Amino acid sequence: MGMNYLHSVLCRSKLWECASATRIVPWALTGLDLGACALEIGPGYGANIASLRRRAATLTGVEIDPVLATRLRERSGSDVRVVDGDGAAMPLPDNEFNSVVCFTMLHHVPSPPRQDDLFAEAFRVLRPGGVFAGSDGLDSLSFRLMHVGDTCVPVPPRTMADRLARAGFTDIDIATRSKMFRFRARRP
Ligand SMILES: C[S@@+](CC[C@H](N)C(=O)[O-])C[C@H]1O[C@@H](n2cnc3c(N)ncnc32)[C@H](O)[C@@H]1O
Repeated sequence: MGMNYLHSVLCRSKLWECASATRIVPWALTGLDLGACALEIGPGYGANIASLRRRAATLTGVEIDPVLATRLRERSGSDVRVVDGDGAAMPLPDNEFNSVVCFTMLHHVPSPPRQDDLFAEAFRVLRPGGVFAGSDGLDSLSFRLMHVGDTCVPVPPRTMADRLARAGFTDIDIATRSKMFRFRARRP
């Protein structure tokens, strides 16, 4: 599950923070209302915290890497409540959030069934009417090379609609552009 060295240097860089906050999050969340209470699965170094806080009054993050969780807790203070845990088995109650989001993390979840568990967990912790949205990289040679020695199970976007529907979601929308796809879906 850990990130390789190059990847971890990239992920904690200002360059990445800027790319994620200006290119990924705005595109992934275009036209969506996160409501008052949002959850980010896999916040990592926290590149998206500031942009998410502009969109939701309270933000929680569930992070599987305890070192990153501690670092984020120390750095982000009251901007985000950081919970140690696995997005595929979250230590959080049912029906708690208006929105659940994740960016550039699904490919780190080590198998398609485990990714499906994460979708089911997102559904469970959402309130009825809540939105699940995010984005991830498309499979490619360069994407694979960046993850050598690292978990890399890219999600084929053409499978997403069925997989989200199986988890119970409706109003599913998937879009792709160069190097990435986004998804959004609603808990009925
Ligand atoms: C490539 S980083 C992306 C971080 C951040 N979302 C961003 O866009 O900059 C992937 C993050 O997801 C976390 N992660 C991987 N699997 C996870 C899981 N099952 N549950 C929660 N977090 C997970 C990793 O520890 C890492 O912090």
